[in-house]
Amino acid sequence: MRHFLTLKDFTKEEILEIVDIGLEIKRNLKKKIYKKELENQTLAMIFEKSSTRTRVSFETGMFQLGGHALFLSNRDIHLGRGEPIKDTARVISSMCDMVMIRTFEQSMIEEFARYSKVPVINGLTDSYHPVQLLADYMTLVEYEAHENIVCAYIGDGNNMTHSWMILAAKLGFELRIATPKGYEVDEAILQEVLLLAKESGATIKTMNDPNEAAKGANVITTDTWTSMGQEEEKEQRIKTFKGYIVDEKLMLLAAQEAKFLHCLPAYRGLEVSEGVLERHSEIVFNEAQNRLHAQKGLMVWLDRKRGA
Ligand code: CP
Ligand code: NVA
Repeated sequence: MRHFLTLKDFTKEEILEIVDIGLEIKRNLKKKIYKKELENQTLAMIFEKSSTRTRVSFETGMFQLGGHALFLSNRDIHLGRGEPIKDTARVISSMCDMVMIRTFEQSMIEEFARYSKVPVINGLTDSYHPVQLLADYMTLVEYEAHENIVCAYIGDGNNMTHSWMILAAKLGFELRIATPKGYEVDEAILQEVLLLAKESGATIKTMNDPNEAAKGANVITTDTWTSMGQEEEKEQRIKTFKGYIVDEKLMLLAAQEAKFLHCLPAYRGLEVSEGVLERHSEIVFNEAQNRLHAQKGLMVWLDRKRGA
């Protein structure tokens, strides 16, 4: 049995295999072919933070695969009132077939997974957002932009950045990360990723200049400057991140036909201009929809591994 806690635990081949299953399911859906691969199965979804895409995509995905999803907010279950993680894990995993968790500390889902009898999926923590990267990479495949990726990530060194770093290190592409001073990526994760990059031939560079990062890049991406849980820092962050907006001027430095990705929600006028987001809205909203297909691919893959 496998869990999906970070992309670090997956080989390049496994990541590509999950994305491929997702793409096949997407093609089938267009032809109205629904394979009920997870018939009678239940996915428990524990949310300790807000969500639009993650909730809708997992719940819809599970239904389309013939299963059922339970939305469990920490306001409603005893976990939020102090029931130990290890007890919650043993109870839920004794009744459900898979668990998705969105929470703060990565250590929470690691502990949950240690006590879980069923696969646990990371639906975002403060450190990583691996399911988003499955959808992002699937989108690049669909737009035939997945060969020779030179990706520039502009903004906060956060969970999205860390997952981009791992994806680059696993698949072997170039990633340039431009963050303001003081908002760099986690040093321990960076060191780990640089070791992985040596094996795959990936280039991962960190810098403070967004223009340097964007120059000639064929994928430009960003994320909110204020992640969930950092709301009280918002004012300060807006001041510090000035100059890190992905706008028309920055896009001009990128390669012609460069793709723009955003995991959403987007804050126009902050990390991205209205013009850039709307010009690239087709790919960005495909990226959002691909959460549904990529995660169906993931759940089917995890289910197959369980039987293997
Ligand atoms: N991108 C993403 O995870 O969106 P939600 O927070 O809406 O789930
Ligand atoms: N970095 C953001 C991603 C939201 C999908 C956050 O953690 O809030």
